[in-house]
Amino acid sequence: MLNKKSISDLSRADLDGKVVFVRVDFNVPVDANGVITDDARITAAVPTINYLRENGARVVLASHYGRPKGQVVESMRLNVVADRLRELIGGRVEKVDDCVGNSVRSAVNSLKPGDVLVLENVRFYKEEEQNDPGFARQLSNGMDLFVLDAFGTAHRAHASTAGIAQFLPAYAGFLIEKELNFLDKAIQTPQRPLVAIIGGAKISSKIDVLKHMLAKVDVMVIGGGMAFTFLKAQGYEIGKSICENDKIEEAKAIMAEAKATGKTIILPVDSVVVEKFDNDAPSQIVSSHEIPVDKEGVDVGPKTVEIIKDVLKTAGTVMWNGPLGVFELPNFAKGTFAIAEALAASNAITIIGGGDSAAAIKQANLSDKMTHISTGGGASLEFLEGKTLPGIAALENK
Ligand code: 3PG
Repeated sequence: MLNKKSISDLSRADLDGKVVFVRVDFNVPVDANGVITDDARITAAVPTINYLRENGARVVLASHYGRPKGQVVESMRLNVVADRLRELIGGRVEKVDDCVGNSVRSAVNSLKPGDVLVLENVRFYKEEEQNDPGFARQLSNGMDLFVLDAFGTAHRAHASTAGIAQFLPAYAGFLIEKELNFLDKAIQTPQRPLVAIIGGAKISSKIDVLKHMLAKVDVMVIGGGMAFTFLKAQGYEIGKSICENDKIEEAKAIMAEAKATGKTIILPVDSVVVEKFDNDAPSQIVSSHEIPVDKEGVDVGPKTVEIIKDVLKTAGTVMWNGPLGVFELPNFAKGTFAIAEALAASNAITIIGGGDSAAAIKQANLSDKMTHISTGGGASLEFLEGKTLPGIAALENK
């Protein structure tokens, strides 16, 4: 499916003793004490790292972490990630406090086949995000091959994700292959009916996903804050609910397109509403078509959940991106969690976009019930918009 060279094309003869620069996405969430709260992105990179090690490569890992904006920020060093990786894979995992220059060169020289070196946060240099060719060349110094395994950052055209591919033979890692295979198959040749559940606060951030996906799906469920723009476009009273008035015409156009092409759009029929935007505010459930003028919708109601559950019973494939309510406030996260449970109970192929939807599945302890949970938030969104991800585009064609 992926028309790019991949590390599965590389054998021991190609890798033995070689220094392989692997761009991973180790941008993992941490708590207030700097302890990693979800290491999914690290575990997801392990198959590529171990394949390279087992085939005698000397593995150099590069990642960004947070948004230090070209400065050295102590709390954004990759030490905690290197420690976690060491626990996960055993063997020799070294860490160096820079990503270019003499300290990197000498650390690379001391690597033996099968060893791993974690470089420092590439975004400590402003040239990384500028995709500066000189910086990309510096990153490539002393390296024999480039492997992109950072699906979560593949939508960024940065020096370590795209620029470096000009200087080294460039291959996709196993995580990139896996992500693209699941996402691409689910869109291009899905087991039907294909149902997309698209949520999130703002229609403006998802408009391209809605348009691109409408052409692919059989049923589209629209929830979260953006559903209110659609409800208003249908002429309903939405009270104080979030609404992007400048997107009403686009919402109308999407609904007209669905009608013309025989696609079903499902909008909430009932909503949890509050007067004050506060987790502990008294709430009530009302029809989504008649929200009191002094109230705002914060979650989908039980009737809507039942309608979505019914759709999921016969779905062949479900793609979910974005929460259905104000998921960061526990009292308004019930609809989102109910959908997570329904997905877990479904026989459909279930593909979960990164970001909030993945976080909801993890919080509900349902990760092992899903077919695929993407490690990329922004990247999976851009993929669902039909865009080419620059990191992928930079890899060599087969
Ligand atoms: C992410 O967490 O979505 C990726 O690591 C990309 O991070 P960025 O949005 O800071 O580029």
